[in-house]
Amino acid sequence: MNEQKKCRVKIVGGTGYTGGEIIRLLLNHPLTEIVAITGAGIPQPQPAWRFWGWLRGVCDIPIAEETPGEGGNADVVFLSTPHGVSMKLAPLYYEKSHRVIDLSADYRFEDVSEREGWYADEHTSPELCKEAVYGMPELFREQIKSARLIANPGCYPTAAILSLYPAIKEGFIEATGIHIASASGVSGAGKNAKLPFHHPELDQNYFAYRVGSHQHSPEINSILSRVTGAKVSSSFVPHVLPIRRGILSTMFCRKKGNAALQQIWDAYNSYYEKEMFIRLYALGEAPNLQAVCGSNFVDISLHQDQITGEVIIVAAEDNLCKGAAGQAVQNMNIMMGFPEGMGLSHPGTL
Ligand SMILES: NC(=O)c1ccc[n+]([C@@H]2O[C@H](COP(=O)([O-])OP(=O)(O)OC[C@H]3O[C@@H](n4cnc5c(N)ncnc54)[C@H](OP(=O)(O)O)[C@@H]3O)[C@@H](O)[C@H]2O)c1
Repeated sequence: MNEQKKCRVKIVGGTGYTGGEIIRLLLNHPLTEIVAITGAGIPQPQPAWRFWGWLRGVCDIPIAEETPGEGGNADVVFLSTPHGVSMKLAPLYYEKSHRVIDLSADYRFEDVSEREGWYADEHTSPELCKEAVYGMPELFREQIKSARLIANPGCYPTAAILSLYPAIKEGFIEATGIHIASASGVSGAGKNAKLPFHHPELDQNYFAYRVGSHQHSPEINSILSRVTGAKVSSSFVPHVLPIRRGILSTMFCRKKGNAALQQIWDAYNSYYEKEMFIRLYALGEAPNLQAVCGSNFVDISLHQDQITGEVIIVAAEDNLCKGAAGQAVQNMNIMMGFPEGMGLSHPGTL
């Protein structure tokens, strides 16, 4: 029997939360070999377990200071780096024919002008924005297969876009006036989070931030408009929960037409019944974080408000997994021609 060739992988930003999650997932991936892990501010290479206690006795691969563009023999380079950093690194790897999966927001807009007013830094490699494929397999699977640069979706946009797409596309809800309220675990802020995210501030607390001005708003509207052909506008309010992982989003949508909720559910089912990472709940049920955390699932439920008639959609995902690293590995699987769920089919944890 021919042994299938392994995918050699470099992870940049392996000392951060999403980079650490990629390491965790790939150590259990049968067709991946991690050939390099790098980060910033590392004077001497150190074994990965020095940065991540849960890797002690499991992973000795060194994490070294990043040498930009040095991809060695890696087939795929993951950039788990902040926005502004990825746009400088990606071209260096792209030019050397490595396939790049970028977890930052730097390549999520085809038209860089859509970033204006939302991201402070001027784009240093705008020419690559048109090359990048938005890495949401459920919507862009064919393009992902041959992509050389993947713009891995944002954590909040992943749940919001997948939840709203069928209803807008089929004309069950208005494309405008959508309200999205999301709550995220604090790992969503990355490992260098500021004062409001420190334990004494966060424990027993719950707060909204960047109300109506979060940078994921234009991403949600832009991608939904692209895939539905409608001019989508939604308002988005994120909140922080005093937990490590998970996003729960509730979306309030004005209903259009006379379809019964069951009919809307049937349409969602026909869109998603073959999608291995989308679980559509039966009417009357609603997702929760424990059901998804640690896994690559997005759980979605549909409801109708008895007073206003609005369609209400609830969605849950793990921000570090389907919202970041898991979706990135799913993209890698598609690019390499591996089974899409390889290394990702585990359930969540308590
Ligand atoms: N956290 C989430 O839930 C989530 C979800 C979806 C997408 N994302 C996106 O994914 C990216 C990473 O997020 P994160 O939460 O993992 O952030 P993080 O915890 O802050 O990790 C970022 C990592 O990148 C490293 N880094 C910074 N500049 C670098 C450079 N020039 N070369 C090499 N490494 C460098 C950082 O090292 P130092 O700390 O030493 O600077 C850090 O280890 C961000 O763009 C974020 O927006 C995050």
